[in-house]
Amino acid sequence: MGNGWSASNAMYSNIQFNNRSLHMTDTTITHVHGRRVWDSRGRPTVEAEITLACGVTGRAIAPAGASTGSGEALDLRDGGAAFGGLDVANAVACVNGDIANLLTGRDASDQAAIDKGMVELDGTPNRGRLGGNALVATSMAVLHAAAAAAGRPVWHYLAGDRTVRLPLPEIQIFGGGAHAARRVDVQDFMVMCPGASSFSEALNWTAEIYRAAGALMKQAGKLQGVADEGGYWPTFDCNEEALDALLAAINETGLQLGTQVGISLDIAASEFGRNGSYRLALDGRTLDTEGMVRMLGGWLDNYPILSIEDPVAEDDPAGFGIFTKEYGHRCQIIGDDYLVTNAQRVANAALAGHANAVLIKPNQAGTITEAHEALVAGKKAGFGTIVSARSGETEDVTIAHLSVGWDAGQLKVGSFSRSERTAKWNEVLRIEESLGKQAVFSGWGALPFQG
Ligand code: PGA
Ligand code: ZN
Repeated sequence: MGNGWSASNAMYSNIQFNNRSLHMTDTTITHVHGRRVWDSRGRPTVEAEITLACGVTGRAIAPAGASTGSGEALDLRDGGAAFGGLDVANAVACVNGDIANLLTGRDASDQAAIDKGMVELDGTPNRGRLGGNALVATSMAVLHAAAAAAGRPVWHYLAGDRTVRLPLPEIQIFGGGAHAARRVDVQDFMVMCPGASSFSEALNWTAEIYRAAGALMKQAGKLQGVADEGGYWPTFDCNEEALDALLAAINETGLQLGTQVGISLDIAASEFGRNGSYRLALDGRTLDTEGMVRMLGGWLDNYPILSIEDPVAEDDPAGFGIFTKEYGHRCQIIGDDYLVTNAQRVANAALAGHANAVLIKPNQAGTITEAHEALVAGKKAGFGTIVSARSGETEDVTIAHLSVGWDAGQLKVGSFSRSERTAKWNEVLRIEESLGKQAVFSGWGALPFQG
């Protein structure tokens, strides 16, 4: 199994106590193990494995971003000559040393205490001592172990008896930005299918759109493989050409634009904007904040766009305010680099009217508990909440479970190719199947405006 947890009845202990038979498990952590594994870009990353007294194990792998926000938890990388300085021997040593010493003997079912302990042990504001990569791998592994001990899949362990929905998937068709050597400025050209009747139908529709886009690229002599997250390499001369190609692909499928399916963009503007100045790589133009808002507003008027992420840079809160005031009533506006999965930042943004949705990336926060707090802050503010992968991923499917178990409503994983992406979509399909008739798809209800 992708995340390597398993539970069987043999792992439970039936204890006789005062003539009562208690069915219980011992969730004390007996062993913590870190190892180096490889991510989807062929770079080193951290895997953590947690063993409990009842015999179960939980395992998880840290992902890694390329277009990172400056407020994110910092991955500990070794520097030096090997692997471009990206090795994680120090982070792995932290798992096997300081973190193992801290967690051995603790109760894995108390995730909040485990995570608080690790954050305190790190002692830095950006998790730079132990490493965000060491922390998030361990935090997620603890979650897997606790769920396994409870005999439940992670999503069910998190949800308890609460009703949950299957997430609306946000799926990349063309890659761009930092994930495609800046061939186009926009990082993700995606589709969302809120008009589908189920999660699996949304995937069916997206598969048709992905196929149609590939065929159109081939016909035009522009098919050049895929970018970091599995979307087609963006051999376009301008951002609008990519939007037109996406529209053409959707039209090929016969799906209805705006009612069944819409476009979603991650501008990732922090990558090309600073101090209110945005330099577009494709045509060499430099725009100010107002110019960016006008350009994106033009796209909103001309294309069926349902969601825009990081429309302006993380250092441009005023831009977020202007854009949200103007378009927040008809478009989801997501803060990623701007909010970095931080509950306080989400609360502040909501108060100021900046953005109406938050991306939830566990490794931006560093721990499961903090990521959950950011999600709760988003829900409290009426924000859309989107659990998200990173551009550097692995076979780890924890986020698929978080999106369902936390009832996030939305899931963003990259494209519809490359196994580190499809692993997540496929895991949600399994969850959907296990729910049977009780499976509810979030659809339009996941978006923070009236569709
Ligand atoms: P990243 O990209 O993982 O490279 O940061 C994902 C995103 O910006 O949403
Ligand atoms: Zn983003």
